Amino acid sequence: VERTFLMVKPDGVQRGLIGEIVSRFEKKGFKLINAKLIQVSEELAKAHYAELSDKPFFGELTGFITSSPVFGMVWEGENVISTARAMMGATNPASAAPGTIRNDYAISVGMNIIHGSDSPENAEREIGLWFGGETLSYDKAINKWI
Ligand code: GTP
Ligand code: MG
Repeated sequence: VERTFLMVKPDGVQRGLIGEIVSRFEKKGFKLINAKLIQVSEELAKAHYAELSDKPFFGELTGFITSSPVFGMVWEGENVISTARAMMGATNPASAAPGTIRNDYAISVGMNIIHGSDSPENAEREIGLWFGGETLSYDKAINKWI
């Protein structure tokens, strides 16, 4: 079964959207297996977004993500990586489908509320980076209904 790293970005935390976002993934049927509020260091920001280091907006991106706490989470479930990405919507909220998190709550590409791993390789890399790879293993009684 797959796991992914999701993060409510500083704009989502400041706007009081942690609960709303956690709720969407809970209601979908995914299982939360780790979470924490984090003040991101410059070093962690650069490591997390290493693939984007050549982009012209890299400085703006790391500046934003370190500007105020983020809420990092690890979620588990069948196809959770691609399903979470679909629930988030397109990177640019202007192109995100109605009903997605980015369409419902965001306007600009810089402040688009949420991050989600884009592949199994990046999910494992990011869970390692943010949580030392550590997650909880437990049974949820409702799982047989999901
Ligand atoms: P994440 O789930 O956050 O990784 O988004 P993504 O995978 O849909 O997009 P990508 O990894 O390519 O970019 C990472 C983040 O950089 C995006 O979520 C945006 O917040 C930000 N970003 C992308 N393009 C721009 C841009 O042109 N300007 C600014 N300021 N930020 C951008
Ligand atoms: Mg990405």
